[in-house]
Amino acid sequence: MRPTDRVRIPDRSSIRVLFDLAEEVGGDLVRLEVGEPDFDTPAHATEAAFAAAERGETDYTTNAGLPELREAIADTLAREYDLSYEPDDVLVTTGGMEALHLAALCVLAPGDELLIPSPGWPNYWTQARLADATPVEVPMPYPYDLDPDRLIERMGPDTGAVVLCSPSNPTGRVFDDDAVRAVVEAARDHDAYVIADEVYGALTYDRDPVGTAALVDQSDHVLTVGSCSKSHAMTGWRVGWLAAKSSVVDEATKIRESTTACTSTPAQHAAIAALTGPQEPVAEMQAAFARRRDYVADRLAAMDGVAAPRPEGAFYAFLDPEGYDDSMALAKRLVREAGVVLAPGSGFGDAGAGKLRLSFANSMDRLEEGLDRLEAAL
Ligand SMILES: Cc1ncc(COP(=O)(O)O)c(C=O)c1O
Repeated sequence: MRPTDRVRIPDRSSIRVLFDLAEEVGGDLVRLEVGEPDFDTPAHATEAAFAAAERGETDYTTNAGLPELREAIADTLAREYDLSYEPDDVLVTTGGMEALHLAALCVLAPGDELLIPSPGWPNYWTQARLADATPVEVPMPYPYDLDPDRLIERMGPDTGAVVLCSPSNPTGRVFDDDAVRAVVEAARDHDAYVIADEVYGALTYDRDPVGTAALVDQSDHVLTVGSCSKSHAMTGWRVGWLAAKSSVVDEATKIRESTTACTSTPAQHAAIAALTGPQEPVAEMQAAFARRRDYVADRLAAMDGVAAPRPEGAFYAFLDPEGYDDSMALAKRLVREAGVVLAPGSGFGDAGAGKLRLSFANSMDRLEEGLDRLEAAL
């Protein structure tokens, strides 16, 4: 075996380490490390997949996806995020994950830099490396809003792309429009792309969501990534998208012919139903997340010795407990001694050292119990 530099990806995911520890410890743990909705997929989406399979729609689709789904995605982006994409601008992918991976492969040349505002989602580091590019962490100051100057200062001839994740995993912050615009315009001046990871776009609590590309006249160098995973509780169906007004979508479509070829056909039918059918289940889910956000934010604000910016989107709070530098050690102690599982902030880049990520994708009862345990332990 001859491992290449590409697969010499350093650490195991710190979330995974905590997950394994929680499995090992077992017993009555409150699991607040998990990043997926605790709701069921809307029934009409599941039924549509069954019906498609029963009709025999179990063969490959075109690489770009079912035309009806590409249209449904373009309509959703227009309706929910003010984005204007034609169905031909949309590639249906196997989750937002594949869209991000394809985007990195298409726009990053070997040696290019991918700028990652941090705390940031660990997969961006891996995706840059898989494209033989260099991930460059650009730490954002507390409370982790987008600081355009820090990013713009770091842009140079080697910058291939900047990834912007808003609402953010892991901080739950929603970036300010002017700050986003400044970064996107500077990227254009540097001939760099912006990968807008908007998989949590549907989950914003204080204002309506707007797609990044809509802030800059649908500029060609902005690539929009989205997914049914978080908005429709469909993580396991693996349906996402890459949308762009540039040849990148065609290039990505060519590449995926040799990787996944197309997204699962029944899953594409589930996604059509999810996006075009009744949206009540989604609204109920959003309302539940909003209630939890309020509860978690209030509890954290009242905790002595814990600084935590108010989450504005997604389902995460990012905590800075006073006096701790080693978030892995702290997270492990919380599992063993307090029975509550949080993700160590250090897994989200240097800016996360000493911090913890709490996911509120859990029931109110469990959140109450988990926050009681956390408060007592800290
Ligand atoms: C920030 C972010 N982007 C993208 C994804 C990918 O999600 P999926 O592939 O399920 O669409 C996730 C999943 O956790 C995420 O947290």
